[in-house]
Formats: sequence, C-alpha cells, structure tokens
Amino acid sequence: MSGHGDAHPMTSGKCGGLRGTALVPGDKSISHRALIFGAMAVGETKITGLLEGQDVLDTARAMRAFGATVVQHGPGAWSVHGVGVGGFSEPSDVIDCGNSGTGVRLIMGTMATTAMTATFTGDASLRKRPMGRVTEPLALFGAQAYGRRGGRLPMTVVGAANPVPVRYALPVASAQVKSAVLLAGLNAPGETVVIEREPTRDHSERMLMGFGAQLSVERNGNQGHVITLQGRPELRPQTVAVPRDPSSAAFPVCAALIVEGSDILVPGVSQNLTRNGLYLTLTEMGAEIEFQNPREEGGEPVADLRVRFSGNMKGIEVPPERAPSMIDEYPILSVIAAFATGKTVMRGVKELRVKESDRIDAMARGLEACGVKIEEDEDTLSVHGMGPGGVPGGATCATHLDHRIAMAFLVAGMAAKAPISVDDAAPIVTSFPLFEALMNGLGGDIRRSQGRVGPGAV
Ligand code: S3P
Repeated sequence: MSGHGDAHPMTSGKCGGLRGTALVPGDKSISHRALIFGAMAVGETKITGLLEGQDVLDTARAMRAFGATVVQHGPGAWSVHGVGVGGFSEPSDVIDCGNSGTGVRLIMGTMATTAMTATFTGDASLRKRPMGRVTEPLALFGAQAYGRRGGRLPMTVVGAANPVPVRYALPVASAQVKSAVLLAGLNAPGETVVIEREPTRDHSERMLMGFGAQLSVERNGNQGHVITLQGRPELRPQTVAVPRDPSSAAFPVCAALIVEGSDILVPGVSQNLTRNGLYLTLTEMGAEIEFQNPREEGGEPVADLRVRFSGNMKGIEVPPERAPSMIDEYPILSVIAAFATGKTVMRGVKELRVKESDRIDAMARGLEACGVKIEEDEDTLSVHGMGPGGVPGGATCATHLDHRIAMAFLVAGMAAKAPISVDDAAPIVTSFPLFEALMNGLGGDIRRSQGRVGPGAV
C-alpha cells in the first residue's frame, strides 16, 4: 500500500446477534517469515494459508527484488525458491515495504550481513516509524544505515562485507528487533546471541529451527531468554502451513462479545503463549469463550473458539508484563473495555505510540468522540466502561493509516447506540482484506460511506 490512495470512509451500525463461522486469514507474522526464511533456504519452500494482505504481498515483492523466486499457485498457496543464506542479490530499485514495520525491519536484518546496498521506503505511516531500534544492532555486525532525521525512512543500508557475530540485549520488548538481529546473525560467522528480558512472539525461533538452523533458547529466570544462533547454516526448504491469526480473530471474537444474541465459532486460531494475552484478559473480564478442540497445526498450538455475547464483562487492570503477548490487541481491548462495567487500566503500553499510528492517542480521541471517558499518560490507557449497549457512538473516528484502529472502531459501531464511521478503512487490506465481507456474513452492518456521521474525524 502506498498510502497515496483515496480515503475510503466506512460506517458500522448496530446489528442483531452474530451467527456462523468466522474463517479469519493466516497469521501475518508467520506469513512474512515464511517468505523471508523461504528466500534464505536452498530450494523450494511451499506455503499454504499465507495471508494475502498487502503487507505480506509487499514482502513477497521485496523477496523477488533480492533474487528469490516467489510464485502464487492458488488462494493462500505459494512457493518460494530460495537463494540460500548470504545468497541475496542487490536490488536494482528502492524496496517499498508499504505499511509494514515487520516487513521492513526483518528485511533490513536479512540483507545487513551481505555486501550490498539497499534503499527502503514505505507509506506515510511507515515513514514516521523509528528504524534506529533495528539499525543500532545491525551496526554491531558492521552494517551502516543512512536515513532521515530520527532514523526514519527512506533509508539506505550498506550491508557488512565482513560481518562479525554479536551479543545483543534488547532494550525494548520487540519481536521485530529480535528477529532482525537473528536474521542478520544467519550470515555472520560464529554465534550470535540475543537476550530478551520479556518474552515476545517466538515465531522466528520456532521457524528457524524448523528450517534447520542451530538455535537454542535458554530461559534464565529474571535475565529472560538467551537465544543463541550458529551463523552460516544451510537452511533447508520447508512446507509451512500458516495458522489463522489470533490478532485478526480478535475482531470477530470481540464483536460477538458485545453484540447481544451472538454465538459464533472462530476455528483454528493460534494459541501460542507469546500471542494469547488478549484471550487471557477477556476471560478474566468475564467473556464467554470456549477453547474447543485444542491441537497442533503448522507447528503452532491452535483451538476453535466458541464465543457468545457476554453481558457481564467487568473492567480490570491489565498487567504491564502481559503487553508483549497482546501488543496489537489493545485497540480492540479498549473497545471491549468501553462496553464492560467499571474501569479498565492498561499499563506498560508506551510501545503503542510507535505502531502504525500512535494507538493510545488514536483510541483515546476516537472513543472520547463516541462518548466514552478516557484517561491516558505516556505509558497507560484507561477506559471507563459504559456497560453493554451503553456506548453512545455517532462519531467519525480517524484511523491514521492504521488497520487495527479502523477495525476496532467498526466493531464498536456494531453495538453502539448510534453508528460509528471511520474516515479511512483502506488500511484494512494490509492484514484482513475480507474483513467487511466476513463481519457482514456473520450479520454485521458495515458499509462504505460517503460522508461523516456526527462530529468530524478526530
Ligand atoms: C511483529 C511484532 C510486533 C507487532 C507486529 C508484528 C512481528 O511488533 O506489533 O504487528 O511479526 O514480529 P514489535 O516487535 O515492534 O513489538
């Protein structure tokens, strides 16, 4: 997504109980990694269930630009003919990662230990996001990066001709930074070590082991995880079955929790412990979610979620140490909090300020416009719940090129007293292209709209 397209307003109105089965798309994090690791293996990796959202399509295009052969065979069915660790060729043009922080940061890591130069850019949202958190550790390998002030894109990375392995303690809990360092470590001789104090999503570790890298994870009490990777492995191509995305499943799940009379099934949702913080939190709030048929699919624990309208949800304090396991779910959790009874306090969430948008600010302003009382500081968001059906709505909320902000407010509109609009739903294609069709298939009333509802976009 270039971010230069036309804004695409959308409105969501109160609907009757949601019914049916919601087949949510493949996991975004795993989809990016399947393409990137496939490109670094020697031979053909086969992928099923790939998320065909714009973020992942941009990563597929980037892998082609670095010399891999990436082919779509049918819906979700792709193959990647990889060039091997250190086998990337220099791209002949700028790499445009669209809206995707994961795409750009992981790809920078992947090329940073190969003697080549690549220039990266993205849409207006991605060009505001900090890249220093990745280029600082990449400099330890010997790579150099030249970007705009504040370490912003566009940015040129000169890969290290003679990379050295590194030992790096993550200063922020970020799976993107961890993964960028591990990917760079693949083409450095010797052992690269990453230390993370708070566990973040572990898809890179699991998948690298699956692709044949020698990687170990030591769990050291309060030192956290010590991840050790042996450099210069020959990665073996894999067959990757991408499980459904728990971050996308969050939208129909939360819609069913707040729309009276709902009873839906959301099958095959990843229950990876580094991703399930929202589901734990919802259960603590009193949500009626049954985790049926737990099993393993594509190397990830998954379950089928049966979700019913839950009129007795209570506000809670969400502990800060849970943030990494639900970092993308705070926008939709703040919607749930608005329909619960009592106050929900979300602490330790300042990373939300550097996502696709400043998600604390975007949710606070939009919920306030919908009549909900909010308190915020740099690292905390608190929502005063108005009870089931109690949110007035009737506003137009600004999405700031952020797919999860758009989807969160459209879910809120399904249960608010008056419809809620978003100024631009176009970014939803980055992660959940069939969102509108899926939600309306369950009984939602989400429509493309022309103008504004209530006060102007905030
Ligand atoms: C992701 C990591 C998270 C998350 C993003 C996907 C990943 O970002 O917000 O949507 O796939 O590694 P951070 O690592 O910056 O927290």
